[in-house]
Amino acid sequence: MAPSSDLLILLLLFVVFSTTLTSSFPYYPPIPSLNPIDSCWRYDPLWSSHRQSLANCPRGFGATAIGGKYGPIYTVTDPSDNPLNPTPGTLRYAAIQNNPLWIIFSRDMSIKLKNELIINSYKTIDGRGVKVDIGNGGPCITIQDVSHVIVHGITIHGCTKGKAGIVRSSPTHAGHRQGSDGDAVTIWSSTDVWIDHCNLSSCFDGLVDVTHGSTRVTISNNLFADHDKVMLFGHVDGFAPDKAMKVTVAFNRFSVDLIQRMPRVRTGYAHVANNRYDGWEMYAIGGSSNPTILSEGNYYVAPNNRDAKEVTKREEGNWKNWKWRSTKDLFLNGAYFVPSGWGSCTPVYSSSQQFYVATGSMVPLLTANAGVLSCSMAKPCV
Ligand SMILES: *[C@@H]1O[C@H](CO)[C@@H](O)[C@H](O)[C@H]1NC(C)=O
Repeated sequence: MAPSSDLLILLLLFVVFSTTLTSSFPYYPPIPSLNPIDSCWRYDPLWSSHRQSLANCPRGFGATAIGGKYGPIYTVTDPSDNPLNPTPGTLRYAAIQNNPLWIIFSRDMSIKLKNELIINSYKTIDGRGVKVDIGNGGPCITIQDVSHVIVHGITIHGCTKGKAGIVRSSPTHAGHRQGSDGDAVTIWSSTDVWIDHCNLSSCFDGLVDVTHGSTRVTISNNLFADHDKVMLFGHVDGFAPDKAMKVTVAFNRFSVDLIQRMPRVRTGYAHVANNRYDGWEMYAIGGSSNPTILSEGNYYVAPNNRDAKEVTKREEGNWKNWKWRSTKDLFLNGAYFVPSGWGSCTPVYSSSQQFYVATGSMVPLLTANAGVLSCSMAKPCV
């Protein structure tokens, strides 16, 4: 046999063998196309038996959020709601407990709450494997004076203001509430919070508001649509506790019919990295009261309106010294970022918070699965 046909057979064998190899191990595709938060768990075919490993995956300032990692799994079986005396089996019953819980759902569920859902510390709401939506013309989620909350894989839409009245926040405490703002998620005076892979749209006030000295928050992989004031970070101008606020906004898709605040920041610090912006009506990133903002590796597509091409908006006059910087961003359809200030505003991340931020042109790939994923049991969620 001529050496060249040997080579041919070898080559053929290699092709056959490598095809078999890849088809019997489809879980490790050769191209690492997932972003660093997703690649931490989505290749695992046994994700539904390893649910709590998700808590190893957040990056950015909320990387320390462990949610209900060290608690039992609690399965919600009942979509009904009672704000004062929640029934076992309901989402509220699980959310108010004092011990850590990893909360999952027995089936697809549409939940209309009768008042705001007050979440206690060390909780994860994990909608993977089923379709769960909250809102539907009722109030939504309040994360207040607590730490370690993870919300993953649910749709939150159509949220309205809460009613003044008594709402339970723990097995031993029910307090008078003035009525929530009508946000999808309110994060108030809380730390170590991670909101990941949710569909967020059409609420009365904000979609995710981070205020009153909250910090160590990551908002990642969400799909935002159809809303006016998308995200507010910082309570009111000059509110001192918000100076320590640090929020990471990464791998989100800001999709259709959004108007402003993606985010709007006051006094604190926001790292806005590898997000996709499919236009906006007024602006994308805004602020007041001397916030610091690093826009890194985002994909900005400006709207067609010639008067709304600017990504940035300052809500007050004296901003020349505010540190607002853009690096590795991609600007399309005439989008432009007006930088200000001087000195570095690179985030000071620990090694567990650190993540690789790609250049803006990679973002359509990295955000291709933003929003609620549809994961099948016993298969990798890719
Ligand atoms: C999330 O939103 C996208 C875009 O509107 C939609 O295609 C998808 O079906 C939604 N997913 C769920 C689970 O609601």
